[in-house]
Amino acid sequence: MIKMVKVSAPGKLMLFGDHAVVHNRPCIVTAVDHRISVSLDKRNDNKIILDAPDMNIKNYKISLDNLGKQPPKKVRFVLTAIKNFFEKYKVESGLDIKTKSEFSSEFGLGSSSAVTVSTLKALSELFGIKINNKELFDLSYKTVLDIQDVGSGFDVAAAIYGGTLYFVTGGKVIEPIYIKELPMVVGYTGIKADTATLVKMVYRKLAEEPEIINKNFDDIARIVDKAKIEIQRNNWKRVGELMNLNQELLRDIDVSSKELERLISAAKNVGAYGAKLSGAGGGDCMIAVADKENYNNVIKAIEKEDGTFIEVKLNAEGVRIE
Ligand code: MEV
Repeated sequence: MIKMVKVSAPGKLMLFGDHAVVHNRPCIVTAVDHRISVSLDKRNDNKIILDAPDMNIKNYKISLDNLGKQPPKKVRFVLTAIKNFFEKYKVESGLDIKTKSEFSSEFGLGSSSAVTVSTLKALSELFGIKINNKELFDLSYKTVLDIQDVGSGFDVAAAIYGGTLYFVTGGKVIEPIYIKELPMVVGYTGIKADTATLVKMVYRKLAEEPEIINKNFDDIARIVDKAKIEIQRNNWKRVGELMNLNQELLRDIDVSSKELERLISAAKNVGAYGAKLSGAGGGDCMIAVADKENYNNVIKAIEKEDGTFIEVKLNAEGVRIE
């Protein structure tokens, strides 16, 4: 019988298509090399005991009978993933779980999706149940939606497949984009964005002004399709210009913020080819495309505006057994 299993999955950064991807349009996402790992072991009783030191959780205990109850926020993704796995595959066991994160959930780099994917993959290994990537995607996406209600699933796809992906809502298309490099700088605004609130705000806008907002999403979709080609050509100048156009459209649906705009302008003023917010907006991170000569200047410019440079390797490997 298999004993301890350890699995890790990467975080993500949205490059193009934020928000529009929630509404049946494509996006481009890349996996980042900040990983979250989940270690699982079976227990002989009916308890689940969870240690998540990065979230200040030590020795959190719950019995299997209570797994259906609404869990506290910090442990929600892990416990809902376990519940969904047990229900789908008709298995059950007490578990010892330990999670470890290489990045703060503050950054909006996809810690919830990474921990969900790692937990489900680890469970499939522990119980010897073979599930392919699409099945892992569907169960992980269901878990995230059970908790958050809204979301395209792009972050789940990045955690599973890794690399850089062309992705359409709900995993209708998940296509790798083969590239060697992505010369981008990531800056954190210092403000934690509430993704679900922003996504719901955009839903309301769409309901109020469907023609205008659908046109905005269609324009974003065209930018995504062009960016997919230019990224593969390593045409970073054009990729930067497309980022600027994408950012204008995000501004039009009111998801940017003054902090994001400050960092974006600072990066462009020192020679970045282009920059935009990454994710839901309202805070979290921005990204800028810059070649080698400008790279350090862009970092300095972001820091001068009180942003935090986040050192990440993009195009990282997807979920893996450690
Ligand atoms: C949030 O990181 C990105 C959004 O497009 C939401 C989603 O795709 O789930 C705003």
